[in-house]
Amino acid sequence: MRFLSTVSTLAALTSVAIAAVPEIVIDGNKFFYSNNGTQFFMKGVAYQQELTNATSGATFSDPLADPEACKRDLPYLLQLETNLLRVYAINTTLDHSDCINLFADNGIYIIADLSEPGLSINRDEPSWTVELFNRYTTVIDELQGFPSVLGFFAGNEVTNNNTNTDASPFVKAAIRDTKAYIKDKGYRAIPVGYSTNDDEDTRGYLADYFSCDNSENAADFYGINMYEWCGTTVNFQTSGYADRTKEFENFTIPVFFSEYGCNVPQPRTFADVPSLYSSNMTDTWSGGIVYMYFEEANNYGLVTIQADNSVSTLRDFTYLSSRLANVSPSGVNSNSWKPSNTVQRACPASTLADWKGSSDLPPVPNQGVCNCMFASLSCIVDTGVNEEDYQTLFDYVCSQVSCDGITANGTTGSYGAYSFCSPAEKLSFVLNLYYKKIGSRDACNFSGSAKLASASSTASSCSAVLSQAGKDGTGAVSASVTGSFTGNAEAGATGKATGSSGNSAAASSGSTSSATSSSADKSAASHISIEFGGVKAITALVASVIFGVVLVL
Ligand SMILES: *[C@@H]1O[C@H](CO)[C@@H](O)[C@H](O)[C@H]1NC(C)=O
Ligand SMILES: *[C@@H]1O[C@H](CO)[C@@H](O)[C@H](O)[C@H]1NC(C)=O
Ligand SMILES: *[C@@H]1O[C@H](CO)[C@@H](O)[C@H](O)[C@H]1NC(C)=O
Ligand SMILES: *[C@@H]1O[C@H](CO)[C@@H](O)[C@H](O)[C@H]1NC(C)=O
Ligand SMILES: *[C@@H]1O[C@H](CO)[C@@H](O)[C@H](O)[C@H]1NC(C)=O
Ligand SMILES: *[C@@H]1O[C@H](CO)[C@@H](O)[C@H](O)[C@H]1NC(C)=O
Ligand SMILES: *[C@@H]1O[C@H](CO)[C@@H](O)[C@H](O)[C@H]1NC(C)=O
Ligand SMILES: *[C@@H]1O[C@H](CO)[C@@H](O)[C@H](O)[C@H]1NC(C)=O
Repeated sequence: MRFLSTVSTLAALTSVAIAAVPEIVIDGNKFFYSNNGTQFFMKGVAYQQELTNATSGATFSDPLADPEACKRDLPYLLQLETNLLRVYAINTTLDHSDCINLFADNGIYIIADLSEPGLSINRDEPSWTVELFNRYTTVIDELQGFPSVLGFFAGNEVTNNNTNTDASPFVKAAIRDTKAYIKDKGYRAIPVGYSTNDDEDTRGYLADYFSCDNSENAADFYGINMYEWCGTTVNFQTSGYADRTKEFENFTIPVFFSEYGCNVPQPRTFADVPSLYSSNMTDTWSGGIVYMYFEEANNYGLVTIQADNSVSTLRDFTYLSSRLANVSPSGVNSNSWKPSNTVQRACPASTLADWKGSSDLPPVPNQGVCNCMFASLSCIVDTGVNEEDYQTLFDYVCSQVSCDGITANGTTGSYGAYSFCSPAEKLSFVLNLYYKKIGSRDACNFSGSAKLASASSTASSCSAVLSQAGKDGTGAVSASVTGSFTGNAEAGATGKATGSSGNSAAASSGSTSSATSSSADKSAASHISIEFGGVKAITALVASVIFGVVLVL
């Protein structure tokens, strides 16, 4: 027994030790190893298994929480000369140290998306809420201590064409607020960026939008999910890579392929790899991340995991490993290099045919503001009302009173002071406006959906918040007040949590990253990658969802 307990103590000790690897740092448009100034080119692999058998978007498999699987996969990743894994969703309640340390010991860094299928910015109804901010910061808290964590993505393909460019201000606010959080917490300066699709109408504006403005608001790096080079009949010039390289030659922040590997025709021979790591591209690009390690229904895998849990490599794997073995990108050393691209791009106007995203960003989500507001109300939603039934109430009340205090518009840049609060808090705010407008007791009933509350004497720190927000909630709040997200929808509410957890299915709108380029031969119509931008709480779609991916046939 004594022996066993010593072993487990040792195991516990080893699992908390953190592998010491040099951080990757950014200077200008390049990444560098901090120890010796060697330029870092990503030879990355997207590493996340889909939940093919998911019955709800609420759960997913975490690629960094299963040490046996990480050990199983390591030799294959090393055959691909992998130095970076992209993970799309981690479960913050699980332990990641064994996998991250194992990979770090082998020179493999991590770049992690901050969202997850059930908690991401929804391109169709974009918002940047306390709940999302809480998810993002919880991932940061979990991963920041590992020096091999190279960076975070604040969104993946959220805006995906010219119909939803108004979603980008919410993503940019997520970048702003997570960067400020990392700084406030005194964490090391882990960069935060964005991963975009490659829609030809919007890609130029997106690059401008995310790289423009002051360094507090701008992305630290920029990833493009790139599927333009298909097969072997195209080359650097005709694939579109030459044009894209030209477009980014003066970019002020690092840019790389956050996914690549067009899968038509099959098998993939990865004829683009020699160009990506050649001097045609290395001055502008920092390499790329192949989509993806695991073979799934979308046919983008490099390996199959067999029923006995062993790894079987596919032809794509063989082609890719020999391609990568034959490239050696030559970069610059940070000690002898000064960024030459110093002219930042201008933010695009929000009035263009293909761009409607305002440069005015939504406010910083703050639970304290929501708590102040909620505590001041005399009429609130009854806790027995299901969140699915809120919409009917919103529709009616918002036809009777102005809902500008709780809505957010990424085109006009008008954001209600309470637009980041929970659905229950927002509904209560407008029910109360209605009640105050009508002025009689029955106006706070809605067939039992609303109930009277005693507006509590609010904390003194709330008075400035409430007066800045104004009665209708359209003012800008600058007063400082704190409050932490509890997962409950309402301050002081009892009963069931009405946050969106549990019923918000990962129903991605499943685009086929179409229009990656104009010509048909470059079309990546079969590209179905992981994207959370279209997450919607529509349970009926769940059956067709595979980890946030709807297969479009
Ligand atoms: C710099 O350090 C990194 C990380 O240890 C290493 O991979 C790389 O080879 C080093 N560069 C040189 C030129 O030795
Ligand atoms: C998913 O379901 C299929 C078919 O029912 C089954 O073969 C497979 O083993 C399941 N996968 C997992 C990860 O449970
Ligand atoms: C995270 O892991 C916990 C513990 O295994 C599990 O109960 C929960 O469902 C997981 N969450 C997600 C979103 O997969
Ligand atoms: C990049 O800068 C160079 C030198 O200033 C200039 O000639 C070139 O046109 C710029 N390229 C782009 C795409 O803006
Ligand atoms: C680099 O670009 C030149 C000019 O377009 C082209 O001839 C050459 O094949 C390219 N090399 C690679 C490896 O892409
Ligand atoms: C934002 O405001 C514009 C201009 O008033 C309007 O056309 C658009 O529909 C609004 N968007 C949303 C999501 O309400
Ligand atoms: C609220 O409405 C319900 C149904 O219309 C009614 O039965 C109930 O008496 C009302 N409650 C109050 C407090 O007016
Ligand atoms: C834009 O993207 C949305 C979401 O993926 C999709 O439903 C819509 O059809 C697309 N519209 C165009 C014009 O491509």
